[in-house]
Amino acid sequence: YELVAKPGTAAVLPGLSTPVLGYQGSFIGPTIKATRRRRVAVTYRNGLTEETAVHLHGGHVAADQDGHPMDAVQPGEKRIYLYPNEQRGATLWYHDHAHHIDAEHVYRGLAGFYLLEDPVERMLPLPKGKYDIPVMIRNARFDTDGKMIFEWRDFFGRDTIIVNGKPQPHLRVEARKYRFRFLNAANLGVFKLSLSTGDSFVQIGSDGGLLPRPYVTPAFQLLPGERVEAVIDFSKYPRGTRVIVKNEYAFTPETADIMAFDVGDPAPDRSAVPDVLRPLPALGPADRTRQFVLGPDAEGMPVINGKSFDMDRVDTTIPLGSTEIWEITNNDVAQPIPIPHNMHVHLVQFRVLSRNGAPPDGGEAGLKDTVTVFPGETVRIQATFADYRGRYLYHCHFLDHAAEGMMAQLEVV
Ligand code: C2O
Ligand code: CU
Ligand code: CU
Repeated sequence: YELVAKPGTAAVLPGLSTPVLGYQGSFIGPTIKATRRRRVAVTYRNGLTEETAVHLHGGHVAADQDGHPMDAVQPGEKRIYLYPNEQRGATLWYHDHAHHIDAEHVYRGLAGFYLLEDPVERMLPLPKGKYDIPVMIRNARFDTDGKMIFEWRDFFGRDTIIVNGKPQPHLRVEARKYRFRFLNAANLGVFKLSLSTGDSFVQIGSDGGLLPRPYVTPAFQLLPGERVEAVIDFSKYPRGTRVIVKNEYAFTPETADIMAFDVGDPAPDRSAVPDVLRPLPALGPADRTRQFVLGPDAEGMPVINGKSFDMDRVDTTIPLGSTEIWEITNNDVAQPIPIPHNMHVHLVQFRVLSRNGAPPDGGEAGLKDTVTVFPGETVRIQATFADYRGRYLYHCHFLDHAAEGMMAQLEVV
């Protein structure tokens, strides 16, 4: 694969042209398709005037291939990223990770899907091919000329929802089952998806691949960086039905709809959602437990354990191969409004052990790399740090928060 970061223009809003920074100059990068245990090499060139770094979000890769900001690619330079793809099949994505400016880079378009297919999952009768659709959801603020406005912490200003590069699109679907791979690629957007028909989703996957078993739910949250895979069966709707994907976390009427499906003719459908998807290995004992507190420092800046990100400091040293429990608490309860944070850990796929002491629901029972921690909550996760030594990041995936300091480094030694 080849990726070139460069400026371009995109037709995002009707009749207007939007300047973007994108891979190949387009608003969404090309979808990279990989197969488990087949290595992928990405030749990357930075055609921007600022440094950039390509990070494969959710990827289990060597430290020097992880797009760490200390390995940034300078303007005009080239490098090759190697992805071993030894992990399970999953909906991954890649995005910029340059120091401090990644939030704006991702906002302006430097993000794309990376679909890792697992040959053992081909046997499952899930919807495939053109009935398996990645859906990148994000938001942005536009001026009247169609330019995207980037301002720090512009949570309420980013009031246009963009799905696969278009505002609130409509998709014609056949009256049958589809698999959707939803990704929240927004820096600051919080989404909770439900269907206008009141029907449930059948969630089949999360960040790190298929769930152990399907989870039927009328709504699911999708905070920045997270993926949810879900099957929707349109065969129960008459031709001409419009099924709207709603955002229950909308703060304006204009952002209440994410996208719509227009149901067409019935189509033959031999796909099915089996009762057992992909069993997970049993959780082994942990070697240690650590605490992480997400919240403001004395100046009100978002930090982890009271410290702002410092590229020269290692915050957490982890012996290779160890299994750790991380207890993550969000104490951002005061502020003008309490702020959720979404902890993302590079290198690993983890399991959610508990949320405020209670077991997680079935949608969080699979592998995760990003987990939402609401104000006042404590979430416990468990991960094994295997295979690679070196420095990796962990941070809030509200990228504006990360860029402002809510990011830290672990080193596997
Ligand atoms: Cu999706 Cu450190 O990133
Ligand atoms: Cu990541
Ligand atoms: Cu945050």
